[in-house]
Amino acid sequence: MKVLVATEKPFAPKAVEDIRKEIEGAGHELVLLEKYTDKTQLLESVRDVDAMIVRSDKVTQEVLDAAENLKIIARAGAGYDSIDIEYAKTKGVVVENTPGQNSNAVAELVFGLLVYAVRNFYNGKSGTELMGKKLGILAFGNVGRNVGRIAKGFGMEVSAYDAFCPAEIIEAAGVHACNSQDELFQTNDIVSLHIPATPETIQSIDYRTVNQMGKGGILINTARKEVINEPELLKLFADRGDLKYISDIKPDADEEFKKFEGRYFATPKKMGAQTAEANINAGIAAARQINAFFAEGSTKFQVNK
Ligand code: 3PG
Repeated sequence: MKVLVATEKPFAPKAVEDIRKEIEGAGHELVLLEKYTDKTQLLESVRDVDAMIVRSDKVTQEVLDAAENLKIIARAGAGYDSIDIEYAKTKGVVVENTPGQNSNAVAELVFGLLVYAVRNFYNGKSGTELMGKKLGILAFGNVGRNVGRIAKGFGMEVSAYDAFCPAEIIEAAGVHACNSQDELFQTNDIVSLHIPATPETIQSIDYRTVNQMGKGGILINTARKEVINEPELLKLFADRGDLKYISDIKPDADEEFKKFEGRYFATPKKMGAQTAEANINAGIAAARQINAFFAEGSTKFQVNK
């Protein structure tokens, strides 16, 4: 079988090496398309492949139509909103993700960004500490749980709300379970977003929601830019001079947010999962899942059943 690694944002070289070992070790062929800049390169590369490993790469109807032999896509990561999973299903293409494999990397970045924010982006002025501050985690999945674990090391008071995770599981991790998303925003100094981009969550972080935060509130987003209602957040920032927005995903309205100097920061490129460890873990998992699919028809991590 021919397996394509298509990554607009490449993996660390060691991860590619490890993926190659797994794929070739199982008797398959590996082809690479890294750092592509144009959709046509992807359309050309998918033409004769049986499987694909991708990151946040956009796998649209057009890509799926061009990939005539494709049987499985392994998303080396958690979020699969960049893949048209329903269309893939109509074409009989299995889509899998690799949950948990890059979550520590994203969680660590939350704190890298938070320290940067509370120390005023290292502008020399006196900032604040994280110890004793209240952190609210929105969605207690793999990343949220790691954020909770690290936050305790910082001496923070940690709460979480997850519409799909029972309060007992949150409490068992030593984290206070809020009864609602509103309560999470009302009772915390910092809210960290870990919700996926779904029809229910897209644009859900709006004026009303964030305005519930107390004075000096910080919103940190290492999830997806789509969950933010950008025009409303911009309006809120104009109305309230005390809030900060820190994001690992450049918003569409980046230029407008930049006008709120000292209150906004976005990484130039999504960096959450950009560590050698995360790339290796997610890359190897994706390769092994593809091998298991071809060897024994395993679809354990399928997200488009
Ligand atoms: C994920 O969904 O796994 C993360 O957002 C990381 O995405 P990336 O592989 O595009 O960096």
